[in-house]
Amino acid sequence: MTTTSTSSQIDHLLDETRRFAPTAAFAQNAVGSADLYTQAANDREGFWADQARELVHWHTPFEQVLDWSNPPFAKWFADGELNVAYNCLDRHVEAGNGDRVALLWEGEPGDERRVTYAELTDEVKRVANVLTGLGVGRGDRVAIYLPMIPEAVAAMLAVARLGAVHSVVFGGFSADSLRARIDDAGAKVVITADGGYRKGKVSPLKPAVDQALADRNGQGVQQTVQHVLVVRRGENDVDWTDGRDIWWHDAVPAASADHTAEAFPAENPLFILYTSGTTGKPKGILHTSGGYLTQAAYTNRVVHDLHPESDVYWCTADIGWITGHTYVTYGPLANGATQVLFEGTPDSPHPGRWWEIIEKYKVSIFYTAPTAIRSFMKTGRAVPQSFDLSSIRVLGSVGEPINPEAWMWYREIIGADAAPIVDTWWQTETGAIMISALPGVTEAKPGSAQVPLPGISVDVVDDAGTHVGNGNGGLLVITEPWPSMLRGIWGDPDRFVETYWEKFQDQGYYFAGDGARLDDDGDVWLLGRVDDVMNVSGHRLSTAEIESSLVAHEATAEAAVVGASDDTTGQAVVAFVILKQSYLDAHSPEGLAQALRSWVGEQIGPIARPRDVYIVGELPKTRSGKIMRRLLRDVAEGREVGDTTTLADTAVMSVISAQVK
Ligand code: WTA
Repeated sequence: MTTTSTSSQIDHLLDETRRFAPTAAFAQNAVGSADLYTQAANDREGFWADQARELVHWHTPFEQVLDWSNPPFAKWFADGELNVAYNCLDRHVEAGNGDRVALLWEGEPGDERRVTYAELTDEVKRVANVLTGLGVGRGDRVAIYLPMIPEAVAAMLAVARLGAVHSVVFGGFSADSLRARIDDAGAKVVITADGGYRKGKVSPLKPAVDQALADRNGQGVQQTVQHVLVVRRGENDVDWTDGRDIWWHDAVPAASADHTAEAFPAENPLFILYTSGTTGKPKGILHTSGGYLTQAAYTNRVVHDLHPESDVYWCTADIGWITGHTYVTYGPLANGATQVLFEGTPDSPHPGRWWEIIEKYKVSIFYTAPTAIRSFMKTGRAVPQSFDLSSIRVLGSVGEPINPEAWMWYREIIGADAAPIVDTWWQTETGAIMISALPGVTEAKPGSAQVPLPGISVDVVDDAGTHVGNGNGGLLVITEPWPSMLRGIWGDPDRFVETYWEKFQDQGYYFAGDGARLDDDGDVWLLGRVDDVMNVSGHRLSTAEIESSLVAHEATAEAAVVGASDDTTGQAVVAFVILKQSYLDAHSPEGLAQALRSWVGEQIGPIARPRDVYIVGELPKTRSGKIMRRLLRDVAEGREVGDTTTLADTAVMSVISAQVK
């Protein structure tokens, strides 16, 4: 164990020594190669220019690569022109791949649709014509509030095709959240559906749009929305505002399928995506076209080892999140991939639904979140083991640190102890993957995101911006601009500078908000958001490491750790643990809580031993699956629980509070 004095350093306590080298056969066919690291190190900008020329079609080729004359406002490929939708659609059809399936869509009730590149191109052209008719043009904002149906992807691409800007709002958000996002972006049109299927029921969407647009409570907010385009999905009765509302199934088939993709400058805005921090109003993260598409296509290719002619790819993220933007819509379609799109949830109508889909479509590349993996660990391996998952050859993880035990489970149970796992670190703000192993190239380490991708430069530094050195923890920074970086916060350039660039303005580093440590090989281990770091008797401990240790115990399915104020130690470690069903049945919760305390003490050291271990049935998670530790801290410190509106299930906190009492 290392102990350090600077406040930004995070003590490192766990050691992980397992290693998995790629097999020769995999390495031979891999898209990535060790070469890429050398090329990028020799000429970073030249490397990105090569990727942009190779992976993207430019209507007007660029001469400029990076313009960093006004940091932190970057421009990439600024004198080039492209059409993002053309890149994802028409060019594949023109290359003779129109019959290739783009979307293997599986509806929640079990209905299915296969959409080829030719069909998707036709649909997007029609939607683009409809939107033009509704007055949408270059730079206008369109809000998209849809379930995971092919129309969602078509809507994003149609907006992009016009050089307009989409703001996708996750279908699980309330009317209030939708209203805030519509108003902030000043959306002209909303594209929605009557509803979507969730866990066997129709959950309505159009009523939320009506409410968002109607109820202004005399706030003096200007109504910017002129039209609402509505997909019929759920056979729901909907209220109708004549003149404003239009059925997709009336307008789109009737529109012309002729539409020429116009070229727009590389820095034309592509989308705004709102990301809620733990506090404050959501930030509208702004992404633009050429650099974003380049890094989306490049990372999807090398990190997922995508072979578009033969792979069946599935990223389980909703299009309402950045992962759904980059690794459902833009990356895979720019690469001409065939992918699964699934409307429902992993466990409905039965706990093996995802594995059934993998078996059915012979999915070969599977990309999901640790929170999903851990919830499958909770139900047990028998469920996935009753399906044929032998088509899988690459596994990916995103969104949270994946602890080594979940990583091993993922590899053994889902990947047949053979498929390489890529643990991919990135953010809404970074637009695309930044840190990850390359399958077939890098030796994998359970629990570590490992190395920045070729073309990306990161560091782990102390509060003064000094490199911490191998074996130490600190703050993760990105030291050089990258093509898919956010270009700002919509309407708030000052907040952009303050939030991400002020802390290390002397060095010009982007501060990601995450803690990380470098191991003895210089590989990166993510330690969670720095806001979540605890200070126990002067030691800065990472929530991620203690959670990792808890989950390594055979009884544990999921764990969340917080620091609660403590008279003696400053903060004390408090753990909330979900046990595997099989253990709950056979043991007393008190005995298990005690066993877990000792376990962490033995595994990591007495300093990390939780003061309290609470056995709970659920953990508070945001709709994208991230644990809201702030709320658990309230419980641990005996306070009234704070704002729960961004939770996926707002009732969870009262259940946890009751269990803790
Ligand atoms: C966390 C999701 C550890 C991190 C793409 C980051 C991760 C935040 C990983 C961004 C990972 C994402 N290992 N932590 N592989 N991937 N994170 O904007 O804290 O929803 O800052 O983007 O998720 O979340 P966001």
